[in-house]
Amino acid sequence: MERLLIRGGTPLCGEIRISGAKNAALPVMAATLLADGPTIVGNIPHLHDVTTTMELLGRLGVELTVHEGMEVEVNTATIKSLQAPYELVKTMRASILVLGPLLARFGEAEVSLPGGCAIGSRPVDIHVDGLRAMGAEIEVADGYIKGRAGRLRGAHIRMDLVSVTGTENLMMAAALAHGTTVLENAAREPEVINLATCINAMGGRVRGAGTSTLTIEGVERLYGVHHRVLPDRIETGTYLVAAAMTGGEVRLKDTAPALVAPLLDKLRDSGAEVEAGRDWVALRMRGRPRAVDLQTAPYPGFPTDMQAQFCALNAISTGAGSVTEGVFENRFMHCLEMQRMGADIRIEGATAQIRGVERLTAAPVIATDLRASASLVLAGLVAEGETRVDRIYHIDRGYECIEEKLAQLGADIQRVPD
Ligand code: EPZ
Repeated sequence: MERLLIRGGTPLCGEIRISGAKNAALPVMAATLLADGPTIVGNIPHLHDVTTTMELLGRLGVELTVHEGMEVEVNTATIKSLQAPYELVKTMRASILVLGPLLARFGEAEVSLPGGCAIGSRPVDIHVDGLRAMGAEIEVADGYIKGRAGRLRGAHIRMDLVSVTGTENLMMAAALAHGTTVLENAAREPEVINLATCINAMGGRVRGAGTSTLTIEGVERLYGVHHRVLPDRIETGTYLVAAAMTGGEVRLKDTAPALVAPLLDKLRDSGAEVEAGRDWVALRMRGRPRAVDLQTAPYPGFPTDMQAQFCALNAISTGAGSVTEGVFENRFMHCLEMQRMGADIRIEGATAQIRGVERLTAAPVIATDLRASASLVLAGLVAEGETRVDRIYHIDRGYECIEEKLAQLGADIQRVPD
């Protein structure tokens, strides 16, 4: 395994490019299973989760061709297996996104249960209940979700919780079902809209994407397209927080400022100067940020995937701020590691009460999940001394070349073997 070594104290300055969104690429790559012909997906980020998804599609017998500029062509004409095995699903719960498309297109699927992860139990009842409502026979046994269906049929489904991949899975299943499906309490994330746009380009009929009620009229066939995934709003937010914490000045290009409005508001509240254009955003921070209060919620609320990064910002801010996690039941693991770096954080149920300190001190820390590990890198950027972040495979799942992009902005960071 590898680790990152970071020497803190350098303000980040300069310009970097934002990659395609991991959480848009994964569902779109699953949606290629719905199409009769080859689909080309563009602006794919070079991430471990994307590699895992390509490996999973390959196991199903799909033909994959990687073109330059990370464009991936997926041809499903050669599919020969309908099973997503445990050794792949255990590393990436989003593998469950192949369940809906396989059932809709081939009438059969066997997907390993993803299991929980560091941030919570993360059940899949919304996915399973919705597919059953569409007529699929689903058995959960031996650690696998085993589904069979004739042709899925449209249904009126009200999801108990807002689930991003739950919405995406059921949208994909409904796209080829017989009749019309209504999904109530649907997720409104930009990545859900991006998937609906891709399915409609394939010949699908998804209406209402971006609202909490989707209406999907099933069609007989879907066709291959050329689709470009949208920029990563969480990567964008992560580098903006890094610049705010280090008192720097950065410009991020090839991004989509409209998708990060809640983040830009919070960063302005912390004292940052923020400017944005059509596909770029710039931030300048003089001195220490002011602590902010926030509560995470499904889109268009403040994104849970930015909660850990703002805990890091509050940890070195002036004043005190409260961070409430409203989506997952156990997403404060990063706070325990930051406390070891001298952060003044008290966890009270779903809220972290954080009083800023002038300086954190470097320490060996362990990453537990994707966004927690990113927040520890941010803490290392301002800590006195050399911070060592272990288990950085978590980071590689969701951040393309994080040490190269940070080094481009002047950070003293290097990746070393264990
Ligand atoms: C997606 O996960 C994202 N992953 C997550 O990003 C993100 O944190 C999360 O949405 C919330 O925004 C991808 O898009 C690949 P949920 P997902 O279903 O869909 C409960 C990252 O860092 N729930 O929206 O798995 C669940 O336990 C990752 O990039 C059920 O109870 O999350 C949670 O409390 C981390 N039953 C809440 O709903 C279900 O069947 C929201 O989860 C499904 C979910």
